[in-house]
Amino acid sequence: MNVHNSLEMQNRITSLFKIEYPIIQGGMVWASGWRLASAVSNAGGLGIIGAGSMYPEVLREHILKCQEATSKPFGVNVPMLYPELNEIMKIIIEMGVKIVFTSAGNPKTWTSYLKEKGLTVVHVVSSLKFALKAQEAGVDAIVAEGFEAGGHNGRDETTTLVLIPAVKEQLKIPLIAAGGIGSGRTMLAAMVLGAEGVQVGSRFVASNEASSHQLFKQEVVNAKEGETQLTLKELAPVRLLKNKFYNDVQTAYANGASVEQLKELLGRARAKKGMFHGDLEEGELEIGQVAALIHDIKPAAQIVSDFMAEFKEAKLAVAKL
Ligand SMILES: Cc1cc2nc3c(=O)[nH]c(=O)nc-3n(C[C@H](O)[C@H](O)[C@H](O)COP(=O)(O)O)c2cc1C
Repeated sequence: MNVHNSLEMQNRITSLFKIEYPIIQGGMVWASGWRLASAVSNAGGLGIIGAGSMYPEVLREHILKCQEATSKPFGVNVPMLYPELNEIMKIIIEMGVKIVFTSAGNPKTWTSYLKEKGLTVVHVVSSLKFALKAQEAGVDAIVAEGFEAGGHNGRDETTTLVLIPAVKEQLKIPLIAAGGIGSGRTMLAAMVLGAEGVQVGSRFVASNEASSHQLFKQEVVNAKEGETQLTLKELAPVRLLKNKFYNDVQTAYANGASVEQLKELLGRARAKKGMFHGDLEEGELEIGQVAALIHDIKPAAQIVSDFMAEFKEAKLAVAKL
């Protein structure tokens, strides 16, 4: 028997997005294009195109290809630091995308406009304070992302284990947990803490369909516990693999570098260099702590079905306690 068929997973998150399993593939610069997003959606989760590394016309192309590759719902993630935000939002609406995940900015700026246009809007936060602000701004659900997560993160360093119950205590709208979730077992843990869905990033970087460079994917598989760190807090805190570029940043700190000097060191296109072009020395390699628990590169659909099988197994094991 297919394990999927035996799992009834209807809750507010599966109803909100009209998906089978409450597994959301987080939008990720240089990793989540149409191939990954459509593969996750076709597997019963929610795939998300990461617009953060795309020029507007590139995003248009990805949306089109995703629409051709799946008839299931998918979304677009828009980090609101984006310089061409108006153009990006215009394309999203024009192309008939139904779900937007905003991050890195004020949820008040776009939520009501997008809602008026009939879209479902979710905002990503890393603290209780911003979760409540996003709820007030009228979003449909929140992603609360803990300190463990890959990519850009909050300054407060609140871990998923503390953040999710803290947000759950006060939030009325549905809550999606992110940060450190790379298996069905951790998905169950997040749901025990009060989440109704999970947003998964790092695990999907090590998938066949991620657009990130093969060398970066392999480096994620090689990573051991303790080999990532949140750094560059003065600019925008980001969790990175400890490679040469990371070490250069630490040397700059030790030499008392100013914010300007850090900006200069980071320069432009560091993330593209590392994650897309596979320059493991000079590039910025964004990944979460959970990389230590990722041991293979596999198809996205396999990741989704393994999550559900592990989830079921862990639930049965817990029931026996
Ligand atoms: C390589 C990489 C790039 C990311 N880029 C973005 C992004 O562009 N926008 C965003 O909101 N989150 C971004 N994130 C965060 C993910 O969407 C997700 O919330 C996070 O990875 C969850 O934690 P995990 O890595 O422990 O699974 C990124 C994460 C990674 C690993």
